[in-house]
Amino acid sequence: MTAQYQVQDGIAVITLDNPPVNGLGHSTRLGIVEGMTRALDDAAVKAVVITGAGKAFSGGADIREFNTPKATQEPTLHSVIKVIENSTKPVVAAVHSVAMGGGLELALGCNYRVASKGAQIALPEVKLGILPGAGGTQRLPRVIGLEAALNMIVTGNPVPSEKFAGTKLFDEIVDGDVLPAAIAFARNAASASGPHPKVRDLKVRHENAEGFLAFAKNTVAAVAKNFPAPGKCVEAVAASLKPFDEGLRLEREGFMFLVNTPESRALRHAFFGERAASKIPDVPSDTPTRKIEKVAVIGAGTMGGGISMNFLNAGIPVIVLETKQEALERGVATIRRNYENSAKKGKLTQEKVEQRMGLLSTTLSYDDIKDADLIIEAVFEEMGVKETVFKKLDEVAKPGAILASNTSTLDVNKIASFTKRPQDVVGMHFFSPANVMKLLEVVRGDKTGKDVLATVMQVAKKIKKTAVVSGVCDGFIGNRMIEQYSRQAGYLLDEGALPEQVDKAIEKFGFAMGPFRMGDLAGNDIGWAIRKRRAVEKPDIQYSKTADLLCEMGRFGQKTGAGWYDYKPGDRKPYPNPQVNEMIVQHSKDLGITRRKISDEEIVERLVYALVNEGAKILEEGIASKASDIDMVYLTGYGFPLHRGGPMLYADQVGLFNVLQAMQRYAKGYHGEAWEPAPLIKKLAAEGKGFNG
Ligand code: 3HC
Ligand code: NAI
Repeated sequence: MTAQYQVQDGIAVITLDNPPVNGLGHSTRLGIVEGMTRALDDAAVKAVVITGAGKAFSGGADIREFNTPKATQEPTLHSVIKVIENSTKPVVAAVHSVAMGGGLELALGCNYRVASKGAQIALPEVKLGILPGAGGTQRLPRVIGLEAALNMIVTGNPVPSEKFAGTKLFDEIVDGDVLPAAIAFARNAASASGPHPKVRDLKVRHENAEGFLAFAKNTVAAVAKNFPAPGKCVEAVAASLKPFDEGLRLEREGFMFLVNTPESRALRHAFFGERAASKIPDVPSDTPTRKIEKVAVIGAGTMGGGISMNFLNAGIPVIVLETKQEALERGVATIRRNYENSAKKGKLTQEKVEQRMGLLSTTLSYDDIKDADLIIEAVFEEMGVKETVFKKLDEVAKPGAILASNTSTLDVNKIASFTKRPQDVVGMHFFSPANVMKLLEVVRGDKTGKDVLATVMQVAKKIKKTAVVSGVCDGFIGNRMIEQYSRQAGYLLDEGALPEQVDKAIEKFGFAMGPFRMGDLAGNDIGWAIRKRRAVEKPDIQYSKTADLLCEMGRFGQKTGAGWYDYKPGDRKPYPNPQVNEMIVQHSKDLGITRRKISDEEIVERLVYALVNEGAKILEEGIASKASDIDMVYLTGYGFPLHRGGPMLYADQVGLFNVLQAMQRYAKGYHGEAWEPAPLIKKLAAEGKGFNG
């Protein structure tokens, strides 16, 4: 049983005890009911207090039970709340730290609520694609009003308990330890004559509920277009104006509908995927970590500047090293400009700007970085330059310093071999702009120490990145997969599509930006340079020639005002260009291809399944340790639509059998060699399984 029962001087205390956050799983629910029964049967008990052990009152329903029989096994949370509401003895919730979702709903089922200051109060279900399903949409409006409740339920954001002072949500808000205060409150309540208040008996009043709800419905529809939950939340909250039991029934219907939607599955997958990414199978959670109090960054260019800002934002001093004073000055000026821009937008105070800049220092000498705990290299992408830098770092860095490279394509094992301490070398692949993008690929070399990995994962959390571990391979997880996606995009042009159609189809699927608009943003010359290098290193890999022809036209993208599309000064909107489209059509002719009409469905399948196939190979090779890691890379670094949950979950939702069928069909078409299915897909499809089980 994951709830404890104790009697303290006539007051029964039921303590939820289900680490880490007292999720209301089946055994905890059972424990509460058993505690209530004991309390009601014991004549010496006058009142009941419900609280949570450890770091939460309760984080809500146990999300791990969703879509399993345990979720609906009696007593459900509804039944637990009914037992509490039917109690003849007063029940007081002692809320502290965190009361979220079902946790808050449980508290709302009690007669009274005492909270400690600073406790985080939320109904965050919408973030998991569902709505509060244990009366939250009916009871919260009854205690804090329709508008405030709707706002909390539709955003899911936490609010500190003291903000509810004066509402019926809390009867008392205390400084310090809440349990003694709640026990004292319960004793008083027991001495007063009943009946004790129930939230369900209150009425929701609003001067213009209809107008307000119509406005809320429209706003939500515009903001949350790919997600059904926010709209359903509005409907459920609107039902709080009806008799309580009718509202509860409508809430239940909404919940049952949402919990089975692919969008909810995607959001829950992302929630657990983010937490799972920080767990590395062979690196136990108690692995000792190194102290990171001072960071050095080598190179003050695009990436070096952005990387530095992450640490400055987290209050960690950074020293930047360059070869020339001008480069340092340029880099520092860019950092300052970025901060000043945030200050202008009101996102940062001027004081904070100065505080952060105050943590930044610069140098031209390796002597000054000797005492850094973590050194991140972000110099030119050339093995020779990396060699010079890492040899120097090996000479000067203090023993135990972590030496990281931000390389996006080079072999981290080779970089490590330039030092006599390969165990201290690791890849930290930030994405541009490094101060904005959430993703950090942590590249694990063959010899990277476990404590180094554990430390880097901890540092990533501190600088608010989603860190995913990748093995060493060409392109790591993200870029290796995107290459297959880009190849398909090029082949689609050869066969009959134009950039605009491809971009629109995949953007309609939900990608933030299609491959051609993305190429224009990143610079088509970067891919051109990589392909030229590949032509020497790996001559077997084939690409559509259209991207090279585009670069030969001098169309490098937004930076030259012309790429796959035209751009007007100060306007990022892409305008299709007739010469580019002519070049594409001519190229098909040159290849002897009769262009055909390609459906949007085929475009989406080919782009997304190309990611899936490469992702499966990455899993097979152990480059990624789990499918959800790949999904986190794509959700946080590549604009993959969140409501689809990432390429691997999407493939699971389509069904690997269907994915395999499509791949085998495409294998018979143009450049069919790219469609050799990963053995893992064949195996899982035959077993009727998915990447995520
Ligand atoms: N159920 C199951 N496990 C949960 C959980 C939940 N509701 N909430 C958190 N956890 C787990 C996490 O997966 C993680 O597990 P791990 O250590 O094995 O990786 C662990 O608890 C700690 O989580 P965090 O790393 O997020 O810890 P923090 O201290 O940073 O945050 C928190 C704690 C604020 C509670 C945060 O975890 C959170 O926001 N949780 C989600 C809360 C939520 O969405 N509740 C609603 C659930 S749905 C519901 O109640 C339905 C009802 O209306 C019927
Ligand atoms: P950049 O050209 O903007 O900056 C490189 C900086 O390194 C320059 O300021 C240069 O003066 C400095 N530098 C060169 N040699 C040096 C040396 N020996 N010692 C000290 N400083 C030296 O390049 P960018 O874009 O910042 O890339 C840096 C690294 O980050 C590369 O390895 C690149 O592959 C990687 N990367 C780049 C991304 C991007 O989108 N630009 C994304 C992810 C990784």
